[in-house]
Amino acid sequence: ERSLLGLRGLDAAEISAILDRAAYWDKQTEKASSVLASRFVSNMFFENSTRTRFSFEMAEKRLGAQVLNFTAAASSVEKGESIYDTVRTLESMGIDAGVIRLKPAGVLAQLSEKVSIPLINAGDGNNEHPTQALLDLYTMLKTFGDIKGLTVSIIGDIMHSRVARSNLWGLTTMGAKVQFCAPENMKAPELMDYAPYVSMEEALRADVVMMLRVQLERHASGMLSSAEEYRRQFGLTEERAAKLASHTVIMHPAPVNRNVEIDDAVVESAKSLIFPQMSNGVPIRMAVIERAIR
Ligand code: CP
Repeated sequence: ERSLLGLRGLDAAEISAILDRAAYWDKQTEKASSVLASRFVSNMFFENSTRTRFSFEMAEKRLGAQVLNFTAAASSVEKGESIYDTVRTLESMGIDAGVIRLKPAGVLAQLSEKVSIPLINAGDGNNEHPTQALLDLYTMLKTFGDIKGLTVSIIGDIMHSRVARSNLWGLTTMGAKVQFCAPENMKAPELMDYAPYVSMEEALRADVVMMLRVQLERHASGMLSSAEEYRRQFGLTEERAAKLASHTVIMHPAPVNRNVEIDDAVVESAKSLIFPQMSNGVPIRMAVIERAIR
């Protein structure tokens, strides 16, 4: 039984094993299987989600598991119950694994030491979002045939991005080169030693251009001068997208602020892998759940 708390520290063989297994599930023509019949998985979301929550549910159901969906807003968390007591409660009832999304960073590691079921990180604060990065790696693997040797530019709100961090750890482990591009007030100083910050012009010369959502909900007010100014300096506008090399692909974890970090028309363009990323989330999460409890 194995938790997945992050990609930092996961070696290339472990990441490859997950990607290989995802490819296996991706190829199946039958949507449902029974490999996890009589196993119970709880999706515990203490922060909002659309893609992660529903693709985990889709993955669990495709594996034949029984699914318990927990949403903080409709639970005793509203009466002041802690994250720990909530997870212990579901564990006491007999769940085999927990998928968990948390607002604060750092809580998950402590939590995993106090419970005996495997926990899968569905996003913890600005720390990690390992299944998002795995589905991003898988999308790149499907597109280019190999991750090793790719140059991946991650552009935008690096400071608040768990997606940037998990991609940095996963991509560098798999032999890709990562570079960041961000406004001064969205840089993450602690990541300076791991990836260089480059200009927007340089960032667009890459195999993969990964745009990040400006996380308006995590910014203190006044951090963003204006959405128009952000778009002008760091947005993937139609003009910038038109200048990308023919092989370059565009990614974004979504949700997207259309016409802020990426233009509406670019989201839907032929170079965009944004919707395939969402499709790839399902087989990746099947592989991760299976790894946790099979
Ligand atoms: N990409 C992602 O994590 O989306 P959700 O917040 O909707 O799950």
